[in-house]
Amino acid sequence: MPLRFPDGPVLGIETSCDDTAAAVLVGTRVLSSVVSSQTEHLPYDGVVPELASRAHARLIAPVVRRALEEAGVGWEDLRGVAATHAPGLIGSLLVGLGFAKAAAAARGLPFIGVNHLEAHLLSVLLTDPEVRPPLIGLLASGGHTEIVEAREWHRYRILGSTRDDAAGEAFDKTAILLGLGFPGGPAIDRLAQKGNPDAIPFPRARLEPGSLDFSFSGLKTAVRNLVAAEGGAGALSPERLADVAASFQEAVVEVLAAKTLAAAEKARVGTVVLAGGVAANRALRLRLETACRERGLTLAVPEIRYCGDNAAMVALAGALRLARGERSPWTLSAVPTLSQSSFGD
Ligand code: KG4
Ligand code: ZN
Repeated sequence: MPLRFPDGPVLGIETSCDDTAAAVLVGTRVLSSVVSSQTEHLPYDGVVPELASRAHARLIAPVVRRALEEAGVGWEDLRGVAATHAPGLIGSLLVGLGFAKAAAAARGLPFIGVNHLEAHLLSVLLTDPEVRPPLIGLLASGGHTEIVEAREWHRYRILGSTRDDAAGEAFDKTAILLGLGFPGGPAIDRLAQKGNPDAIPFPRARLEPGSLDFSFSGLKTAVRNLVAAEGGAGALSPERLADVAASFQEAVVEVLAAKTLAAAEKARVGTVVLAGGVAANRALRLRLETACRERGLTLAVPEIRYCGDNAAMVALAGALRLARGERSPWTLSAVPTLSQSSFGD
């Protein structure tokens, strides 16, 4: 079935964490996608919520203006405004959500609030507009690791979640242990290319038989203990450091891939979607590609630029809902946690 969209451009706004982003889409065609990644968190090895909110407040108007300019679209051309309202850092969400509601109200445009995880899942349509449920999605980012079943777009069931750290968070924390800085995912991905993934047998938390949940905190502790036993990250040779990075990555990738495939088998679907910031990881993409091919499953993954936080996926998720006649009330508020948000049955 063809997807239905509003008959003109939709503006999307994303401010759930530390990226201030705005995009304009017509259908699945991206006219512009502006992402301003905040650099004020670099000295702190992580995102500082108060700094993030202040940076969003400073950046939101220029970022939206640039997205409209690059798209060659005026406010009068828009058919709607979409903004992420859940889950995320509350102060960050409020900036984008407040801006979107105010702009939509002032211009008399329909407004829709979007769930960040639904946007990540739908981001695959920016790369392949033909992807359709039923499918299993692995959503792996800095804040979340979820296995989601979609029987149709907009109807989701969460089959598994992390019980402690998110996959991206495990990459980030391990990178700090290894002295690689923040954010750690891309740094570990790069370094792991030069290392041996079988050098160190780090633990894989499989949890109870049949469980589709994850746990990454034990793995992080195992890396910490190993690095400490060898005299700290500074004492490791470049080769050893690369082996630790590759072995850590292998432990994460193996569990993520195994549980995603188990979910696809359990739910009897033919399509697997990999999305979220961690979907940029080369080893994970490759592992799922090979495993899906072997099992006759179709794997759909967004282009790298739509894996991390962006507003094109928010505009897309919002546009699909607007076309279904959905509107959010002006009273829609920011919701910090996934469990309080309306994602999933
Ligand atoms: O989706 P995202 O941009 O923001 C959240 O919603 O959290 O995901 C960011 C996460 C970070 O933890 C970052 O380290 C991770 O995605 N990441 C990666 C890679 N690129 C980004 N993790 C592993 N390998 C990568 N290449
Ligand atoms: Zn995200």
